[in-house]
Amino acid sequence: MNDVETRTSRIEGLGLFAARPFSTGKRIRQINVVREVTPASPLREDLGERADHCDYPNGQIVLLGPPDRHVNHSCDPNAYVLCECDGSFLVARRDIAAHEEITVDYNINITGGTAWPCHCGATRCRGTVVGDFFLLPLDIQCEYRSLLAEWFVDAHGDRLRGLGLV
Ligand SMILES: C[S@@+](CC[C@H](N)C(=O)[O-])C[C@H]1O[C@@H](n2cnc3c(N)ncnc32)[C@H](O)[C@@H]1O
Ligand SMILES: [Zn+2]
Repeated sequence: MNDVETRTSRIEGLGLFAARPFSTGKRIRQINVVREVTPASPLREDLGERADHCDYPNGQIVLLGPPDRHVNHSCDPNAYVLCECDGSFLVARRDIAAHEEITVDYNINITGGTAWPCHCGATRCRGTVVGDFFLLPLDIQCEYRSLLAEWFVDAHGDRLRGLGLV
């Protein structure tokens, strides 16, 4: 039985959905990374590769493969990305029911990204995907502190210390 499925989302385009329940803290799946995008291996938009299917871990640009590239953003996400040395994993942030859309908050582990309007539909929707952890309201930064990747904490230790988050 598949753990997840891809289908049309009420948030935007395609989304990733749970095909079975996941309990809080359980790994949903390992994220499928196709390759690193570099000057020598640029994004091939002529082949359908999309900038919005990329992730930006630790100074890299990586192209995500299906089905993980279809994970939409929510301002009240039910999952998060756990970075480990053997790969990144989607992990349930709370209990997820079968058929529920799996979402993450794109503002975690990122600075200096582009801002765009959010259509996540969550009661707590902030209206904008700001593209920068440090532009989130402080209470949300505190809520997400335990979800930050080690590389992000290392890279931004001074700012996090200044906020009392380290
Ligand atoms: C990684 S893709 C997510 C999957 C995408 N829905 C698809 O069909 O492949 C990221 C893009 O999805 C859209 N998106 C994701 N979450 C969104 C949200 N909460 N509100 C509006 N657009 C969203 C944006 O266009 C964003 O650039
Ligand atoms: Zn939102």
